[in-house]
Amino acid sequence: MPTLDLARFPRLPLVTRPTPIEPLDGLTAHLGDALNGVRIFVKRDDVAGIGLGGNKLRKLEYLLGAAKAAGADTAITVGGIQSNHARLTAAATARAGLACELFLTRSVPRQDPDYTGNGNRLLDDLFGATVHELPGDADSLAAAEARADALRAQGRTVYTFPSGGSSPTGCLGYANCATEILAQTEALGLTFTQIVTANGSAGTHAGLVAGLAAMACDPRLAKSFAVLAEEPRARAEVLDKANATLALIGTERRVGPEDINLDGRHRGPGYGIPTASMLVAVRLMARTEGKLLDPVYSGKAFAGLLHDVRAGLYPAGSSVLFLMTGGTPGIFAYKDVLAG
Ligand SMILES: Cc1ncc(COP(=O)(O)O)c(C=O)c1O
Repeated sequence: MPTLDLARFPRLPLVTRPTPIEPLDGLTAHLGDALNGVRIFVKRDDVAGIGLGGNKLRKLEYLLGAAKAAGADTAITVGGIQSNHARLTAAATARAGLACELFLTRSVPRQDPDYTGNGNRLLDDLFGATVHELPGDADSLAAAEARADALRAQGRTVYTFPSGGSSPTGCLGYANCATEILAQTEALGLTFTQIVTANGSAGTHAGLVAGLAAMACDPRLAKSFAVLAEEPRARAEVLDKANATLALIGTERRVGPEDINLDGRHRGPGYGIPTASMLVAVRLMARTEGKLLDPVYSGKAFAGLLHDVRAGLYPAGSSVLFLMTGGTPGIFAYKDVLAG
């Protein structure tokens, strides 16, 4: 089996590995022939670890590993008001004993209390982060860097993490996950035709692509549904980040545009704006499996996967793996569309 040695990169363990791979028996029984004989499995990155879990923990293992190795006492990051990355940075820094500051922009046009004060935003406070809220068009990274400089001038050692934790160091988390999936695949005696994920800041897809390419596997095995950027930009981001991650890993291997398997058609009118197919997917998963997709990322991605399966994109008898990336607290910020 191909392997990838990432042991030289410092890592702060936050995820209980391997996260389980499970069949969706309830959903399969419910949808019957509509699945065209395709078996859908899920990898439970939504449940393993601290702070209500999610894909950001795998990135934070490497980001905080590097920060701690450099003697950092403070981490600063950026995101939207309901950012899962911000919430998990707050949880992980609490666990690691670092101070945390979050610069959150009001990028989704909502002012109601569910959105502004519940879900992830409630948990940011509970985990003890210092939160700075900014208008939707603010340059949050510039504000974060200015604050980092001010804290450094006071003698603090500060690390700033980019949006979604998707720097090459953060992407190592999903290169590592690619090795985990291959090992589980072999142990379970399965072959996956596709590994599917949601795409926001591109790091999860890019990390999977880098991990697969570094192990000389087909990078197109990983596919993402873009929910933040429009398709051309999302493609360019995955390509850039995958190659930057390969460079960090230290291999000569690089990927090209043809290696990026990405679909932007299930994003709907914009980031964080509900779509009808997302609502169907979230309810279907909840009511047939007792599992939670989130309204911003995995709900739209799973809607895209269901569309593809129904349309006959995958042959009968094939198995597809959907990465459950978490975002559970976001449900409580979308009571207006999910209630009832
Ligand atoms: C719940 C959830 N799923 C998927 C993603 C997408 O991950 P990435 O930002 O690495 O593309 C994110 C973050 O953006 C997320 O919070």
